[in-house]
Amino acid sequence: MGLFNRGSNADDTGASSNGVPDNDNGAERAPQPPPANIVVPEPDEEGRITASQALAPKRAPESEPGTESDSEPGRRAKVISFANQKGGVAKTTTTLNLAVAFAESGHQVLAVDLDPQGNLTMSQGIDPDKVDKSMYDVLVNHIPIREVIQEREIDIAVSSIDLAGAEIAMSTQIGRERSLEKALAAVTDDYDFVCIDTPPSLGLLTINALTASDKVIVPVQCEYLSMRGLVQLQNTLEMIRENLNPGVTIEGILPTMLDSRTVHAKEAIEILEENFGELVFKSRIRKAIKFAEAPVRGSSVLKYDPKGNAAESYRELAKEVLTNGAS
Ligand SMILES: Nc1ncnc2c1ncn2[C@@H]1O[C@H](COP(=O)(O)OP(=O)(O)OP(=O)(O)O)[C@@H](O)[C@H]1O
Ligand SMILES: [Mg+2]
Repeated sequence: MGLFNRGSNADDTGASSNGVPDNDNGAERAPQPPPANIVVPEPDEEGRITASQALAPKRAPESEPGTESDSEPGRRAKVISFANQKGGVAKTTTTLNLAVAFAESGHQVLAVDLDPQGNLTMSQGIDPDKVDKSMYDVLVNHIPIREVIQEREIDIAVSSIDLAGAEIAMSTQIGRERSLEKALAAVTDDYDFVCIDTPPSLGLLTINALTASDKVIVPVQCEYLSMRGLVQLQNTLEMIRENLNPGVTIEGILPTMLDSRTVHAKEAIEILEENFGELVFKSRIRKAIKFAEAPVRGSSVLKYDPKGNAAESYRELAKEVLTNGAS
């Protein structure tokens, strides 16, 4: 049985050619052409992506954690995007709680809210409607990113609703895919990790995030239908590697909102492991009401309920990422 044998076209990237976000919160979309400057990987004879294409980005062995970045003054942050064009799969929850778990283990962390919904910004108690300047001004008007960073549990570069217009405003700019990468260059020596939350689309904001990143973490809800979108994400990543950022790889696929009592969730994890093998994190994030409660208090789950299982699961994930060498 194959996630990849059910008619997913290799050119079905979901990225809008005109830079307009196809922000659908998980609804089915018609296939759209990729941006004109992006090359689509060759599908197999029957027009399907093959498992080897999809599995191409293996986790590469890297240097021991904590060796370079902690000890050298000229450290450069590891930049990690949290991406999945499907809505509501725990991208924001994972960005915040993993970022806070890194900080708990002694790392300097910047979180970047690249989603016009501003959920990450809100989940640190900041009202996106009341910020003076946001990532919009960084990406479109090229102001220094330091001007939009606020200090909370971790440092956070804030979003605002304006960001919804950034894709259109950037679409005519030369180097529009590299705006974020350029902005981050000014601060990467100050941090060990930069964690970027992306919107539920594969538009220009997400392309900026992937272009600026060393790694991608893909939260996925443990349902068969949620997992099909991973093929699209893989295709987009392949295009980014070929055209914009050859070094970006998947750090791992994270099963979230797991209800391990259901047979369906178990089957979904099996399918995920069958298709993505070692890319699937060993850590699992179970369903827990604390995850919905914490953002209302403007807090991570690690601060809201420090001793609970929900907090512990993200500490486990942080350990797993650090052990894989992403420090
Ligand atoms: N493990 C979990 N158990 C229960 N609820 C969760 C869990 N993780 C996240 N949630 C809740 O599910 C909802 C969606 O999570 P979140 O906002 O992180 O997803 P998202 O992928 O960022 O969504 P979007 O695509 O809209 O940006 C939120 O209300 C969040 O609090
Ligand atoms: Mg989100």
